[in-house]
Amino acid sequence: MNCLVAFLSLSILLAVSSCDTLPTVYEYYTSGGISSGLSANQSYFTLNGRNISIYSGALHYFRVPRAHWRDGLKKIRAAGLNTVETYIPWNLHEPQPGVYDFGDGGTDMEDFLHLEEFLQTAQDEDLLVILRPGPYICAEFSFGGFPVWLLREKEIRFRTSQPTYINAVERYFNILLPILSPYQFTKGGPVIAFQVENEYGYSPDPELEYVKELYEMFVENGIVEQLVTSDPIMGGLRGTLPDVMYHAINFGDSPDENFDQLLEMQPDKPLMAIEFWAGWFDFWGATHYTESPEDFRDNVEKILKYPASVNFYMFYGATNFGFLNGAAYDNHLIDNSGLKSVTTSYNFDSPLTEAGDYTQKELLQQYNPVKTYRPDVPELVPRVVYPSIKIQNQLLFNDVLEYYSPYSIESENVISMELLDINNKSGQAHGYIVYRKENVELRANTVLMIEGHICDTAMVLVDGVLVSPSLKSTDDFDGFGYWRLENSSLELNTEAKNGVTIDIVVEEWGRMNGGQLEQYNHTHKGLWQGDVYLNDEKIVNWKIIPLEFKKDWVNSLEMWSYISTNDGPSLYYVDLEISDEPRDTYLDMTNWIKGIVTVNGFNLGRYLKLGPQFGLYLPAEFLKQGHNIIIIFEHFKAPSEVSFSADPVWGNQ
Ligand SMILES: *[C@@H]1O[C@H](CO)[C@@H](O)[C@H](O)[C@H]1NC(C)=O
Ligand SMILES: *[C@@H]1O[C@H](CO)[C@@H](O)[C@H](O)[C@H]1NC(C)=O
Ligand SMILES: *[C@@H]1O[C@H](CO)[C@@H](O)[C@H](O)[C@H]1NC(C)=O
Ligand SMILES: *[C@@H]1O[C@H](CO)[C@@H](O)[C@H](O)[C@H]1NC(C)=O
Ligand SMILES: *[C@@H]1O[C@H](CO)[C@@H](O)[C@H](O)[C@H]1NC(C)=O
Repeated sequence: MNCLVAFLSLSILLAVSSCDTLPTVYEYYTSGGISSGLSANQSYFTLNGRNISIYSGALHYFRVPRAHWRDGLKKIRAAGLNTVETYIPWNLHEPQPGVYDFGDGGTDMEDFLHLEEFLQTAQDEDLLVILRPGPYICAEFSFGGFPVWLLREKEIRFRTSQPTYINAVERYFNILLPILSPYQFTKGGPVIAFQVENEYGYSPDPELEYVKELYEMFVENGIVEQLVTSDPIMGGLRGTLPDVMYHAINFGDSPDENFDQLLEMQPDKPLMAIEFWAGWFDFWGATHYTESPEDFRDNVEKILKYPASVNFYMFYGATNFGFLNGAAYDNHLIDNSGLKSVTTSYNFDSPLTEAGDYTQKELLQQYNPVKTYRPDVPELVPRVVYPSIKIQNQLLFNDVLEYYSPYSIESENVISMELLDINNKSGQAHGYIVYRKENVELRANTVLMIEGHICDTAMVLVDGVLVSPSLKSTDDFDGFGYWRLENSSLELNTEAKNGVTIDIVVEEWGRMNGGQLEQYNHTHKGLWQGDVYLNDEKIVNWKIIPLEFKKDWVNSLEMWSYISTNDGPSLYYVDLEISDEPRDTYLDMTNWIKGIVTVNGFNLGRYLKLGPQFGLYLPAEFLKQGHNIIIIFEHFKAPSEVSFSADPVWGNQ
């Protein structure tokens, strides 16, 4: 990009004088032709033979609406960074075995998946790129980026060279890597490095044969740029092949100690924190994380002074749209009872917020010996508070099941959502699964007992009426309806009743994104750990109804009626009428209890009364001039209005 183009495309206050004197990143590193890529063959990095300090910011294209990419990338460059880093999520790009989506592939996330456009935009905005294609990415993203259909395999050992697993990786990499290959730096593109796997040396039992097989896939698919591995320092060099890979580290604190140790492990090579944790993510029900700006500045200064290269993780945190948040299991690893679900916002208290605002953190410029032209900071994207809308229409959950069941599967026993033969036999990856038993004769004081753990939460309805408790505090997670209890019971009724329908509505609240390998056996969702009983009598012959809240299905819902009750699970409908250009906003979910929100059919994400996130980011590009249909699936009790906020809302109640 030349100065004039930069000037025109920014169309805001630009310091033209600096433009006259300084080259862009690409002018600096590619003038006179490209003969070599990123080299870590000496104690400092070179790119095309010229010294480079990699100052990178993480922005995950699959967490940022496509129309915001350019703005986010401009801001990264304007902050003085020369590189953007992103993971690549396998689960989104291969939604069914052998079926791919790299933009417009027909999935609800299709608009986020134009990976080539993202790479091209980064280059247009004068940024180099570091790619982290996994296959495992962690990223606090659903299942660490693994496709859920892999769970249908009886024999699979994730992150090893076991054939079922490695063959699936190979099929995907043979599609993905040829797409990326032309975007390599030495071929005139922006990509200077590829990370292989993710914190693999930090896993309990890393297997170098697996790393070797991944290495071969990269090479055979024409990848020639620098290969990188990364771990927290404790991972040592257990997950890397030092002859062919450069090893970087991840940390949030103590840069000097970390780099001293890296230097001991890997002398005569440059230093880089490929994840310097510029903040942290949040879990539902916990307190919102905030980073002290002083600590942040102090750590950044230590990194730059050392001197070392750095990738700010995250620079632009953004959003886990839909059901795509990850989860952690922090205790009782084996029995799946310690689930902590990551919030919809992946704000990370990062230098750029979810909506692209700068936080108070500023980056230190003076340490980069290479001076390049830096565009001015783009204007902030303006947000509005739309007027509150009174809710007038609803669709009772029972009517959803009666009239809109997308599938109805007969099954003798309860089974997990992944094993349903839906979606071209790739199973159900996300959402809710309803286990329905019809024509039951309930004796007085009948007790329902669910064997094993519920994965992850459950509501129980008798003839469409909620009989399990509503959520009031985090203490309720110890009671019926949540994953912690093993063999949980609930009294359904006091009076005897004939011909009733019982529904157990089980929610997938986030798939584990990290932890020990054997835990991946425990990411099945729904009821699958045992049987379900009524007064000690096993229930058989279920009707199973998966509810994925996909866009086409949400848009097909029609039978809206006036509000008859705001108690119990129900869908609520409002029409947000916008007369001028739509603007970014937040839905303020403070007065709701638990559920999800869709806008024009697209699933924005989850909300929870316990916080810490109450504001649900609603970017302008999901809205249009005219009518915008907002549908909220509330589990327990709805307020009378849908409200908006200009800013994120954090807290606990
Ligand atoms: C780094 O060294 C390796 C091994 O000697 C060599 O193959 C590679 O071309 C070098 N890379 C660069 C960019 O100079
Ligand atoms: C590149 O960096 C090294 C290490 O800091 C330094 O010794 C060398 O002079 C630099 N080269 C140029 C051309 O600036
Ligand atoms: C269904 O799956 C098969 C095999 O994985 C695939 O070839 C086919 O394209 C899929 N069909 C659709 C409609 O996605
Ligand atoms: C749950 O029930 C199973 C058998 O149905 C039993 O083996 C297990 O010990 C029970 N767990 C608890 C905590 O009661
Ligand atoms: C997880 O799966 C692996 C491979 O199928 C198996 O060897 C292991 O025993 C399983 N672990 C648990 C806790 O079930």
